[in-house]
Amino acid sequence: MWVLGGTAGGAIAQGVAEGLKAPLGRVEVKTFPDGEIYVRLLDDVKDRDVVYVQSSWPNDKLVEMLLTLAALREHGARSITAVVPYLAYARQDRVFQSGEGTSAAAVLKLIAQFADRFVTVDPHKEHVLPFFGTRALDVSAIRLIADHLVEVGPDLVLAPDKGALDRAEALARELGTPVDHLEKTRLSGTEVRMAPKALDVAGKVVVIVDDMISTGGTIATAVKELKRQGAAKVVAACTHGLFVGGALDRLAQAGIDGVVATDTLANPVAKVAVAPAIVDALARR
Ligand code: R5P
Repeated sequence: MWVLGGTAGGAIAQGVAEGLKAPLGRVEVKTFPDGEIYVRLLDDVKDRDVVYVQSSWPNDKLVEMLLTLAALREHGARSITAVVPYLAYARQDRVFQSGEGTSAAAVLKLIAQFADRFVTVDPHKEHVLPFFGTRALDVSAIRLIADHLVEVGPDLVLAPDKGALDRAEALARELGTPVDHLEKTRLSGTEVRMAPKALDVAGKVVVIVDDMISTGGTIATAVKELKRQGAAKVVAACTHGLFVGGALDRLAQAGIDGVVATDTLANPVAKVAVAPAIVDALARR
């Protein structure tokens, strides 16, 4: 096995290479003045089993991924495993309104053009995996996140909506706490509403868990409501920290007591390394 990291996967690639005791390959990536991306493999990949690590966000990282996978194929890699720690476009996993495309399927089918196997971490919904084909698997970061949260001493784990309850239940099991969910309605790309719901949070340490935090609108609204109901401390945990448009400031202003994310994306609170979970999955299959 031979591991290669893209510009949105370098740190995880290093952890995966160490975990698999495999060499770390080199790739040159540049952006031309017109925005085109240049990719050059700096090692001979012929007949190698290559694990390529790259998150597919923002869009130029997806293009870099496709170009690198295509180069690996063109230069004779024997097998190619695409490890995509954060899979962008996973939320558009069906046609919600007529005329829309299923973007998650489009992205996974593109990756499948060049990769034999696909691994991702906590996709928005795991039912997107078959869009790649049969050799796709997802890895959970929940146990690693739980290890990090033990010192926070949570009394309750909350999901922001019913759809995210499975993830919250998994975290609550690891932490040995009760679990509940809020009732979120999305009003726009940045605003959500939480339906009034009385929760037993007064004086408690609450962890809200979601697959991703983007603008922070979901978590900020939840924090305000929980603090209004008397929660002593509210900590947010997510696998994928996008934190766009000043999301971390927005969360601070909402009164959050802590935010933790994994390192599937680079950000100031990426405190949980996912490489060990990826290594376990690759070693098992
Ligand atoms: C949506 O279904 C996701 O699970 C997240 O709840 C959402 O993407 C978070 O977005 P934001 O941080 O912008 O509220």
